[in-house]
Amino acid sequence: MNAIGLDIGTGFVKCVSDKKQIKFPSIYAYRQLATWEGRGIVEAVGDEAIKMAEIPNTRVKRPVMLGKPIDEKGFEKLVVRAIEMSLESNDALGKSLESNCIVIVGLPYEAKSHAANIKKMITRLFSPKQCTVVAQVLGTLVDVQLADAAVMSLGHGTSEVVVFKNSSPIKGISIHHAVSEIMTEIGSGKTDYVNHEIFTEERTKPHVISLADALIDDLNHMRQDMESLPIVVSGGGILLPGMKETLESKLGTSVIVPKDPVFSNAIGLYKLAAKTC
Ligand SMILES: Nc1ncnc2c1ncn2[C@@H]1O[C@H](COP(=O)(O)OP(=O)(O)OP(=O)(O)O)[C@@H](O)[C@H]1O
Ligand SMILES: [Mg+2]
Repeated sequence: MNAIGLDIGTGFVKCVSDKKQIKFPSIYAYRQLATWEGRGIVEAVGDEAIKMAEIPNTRVKRPVMLGKPIDEKGFEKLVVRAIEMSLESNDALGKSLESNCIVIVGLPYEAKSHAANIKKMITRLFSPKQCTVVAQVLGTLVDVQLADAAVMSLGHGTSEVVVFKNSSPIKGISIHHAVSEIMTEIGSGKTDYVNHEIFTEERTKPHVISLADALIDDLNHMRQDMESLPIVVSGGGILLPGMKETLESKLGTSVIVPKDPVFSNAIGLYKLAAKTC
């Protein structure tokens, strides 16, 4: 049985299986072949899509916005590529893997309305033994082995805070301030964010402080639900230079950062799937 944890983020797809951890940019591209190349269109996802973007006449699409699918075809390509790669197979749609995997997908807390469609799509493509869609930060909670905590995820397109009691999400908010906000200040192209070196301390510091302020302001509305719970922060945003220290000083308390904050959701979702196997 193959267990798979899948986190299709606005910036990056993260997928964890028994065999590997996969990460690639959430980008889909296609182009019409030129007269001398033949006929039809060529498509690519992830890093290959970024490479293809250098060729004129390429359309680059970002199928995920604010953590939700906005382009069905592109989103499907991301899912297929992630599952195929994580199973080390070019034949993930073939009979051999059908009904042989358990997939757990994470979505933002406020994206529950997309859960049924995503489950339907994965079931149509892979016929897994089981496919479950959960609040994505449950993955982080499992990864840090806690049952009661406030989990904050600082993503590329959206941030959120979800309060868990006994491993159940009892309250959550999505915050529309995330790393992409900083990108609009320091980047110039659609895909600049894939190069993390762009986030130097010198360039990002004032924007990190401003993003932290916006996050804390929204978070304050949840304070009474958080009581004295530990605060766990995952997502690539916590790796921005100075972000952890800035958040801790504004919150007046220390926060727990998982060993691999970018993969934390997917790792925990994988662990949940593996438990079901
Ligand atoms: N050292 C780093 N490692 C990984 N990501 C980083 C790092 N520094 C900054 N980032 C940025 O963190 C951002 C968020 O990454 P993450 O993969 O958590 O977002 P996402 O899950 O794709 O987005 P969302 O959760 O909003 O849908 C990206 O823009 C990425 O460039
Ligand atoms: Mg994310």
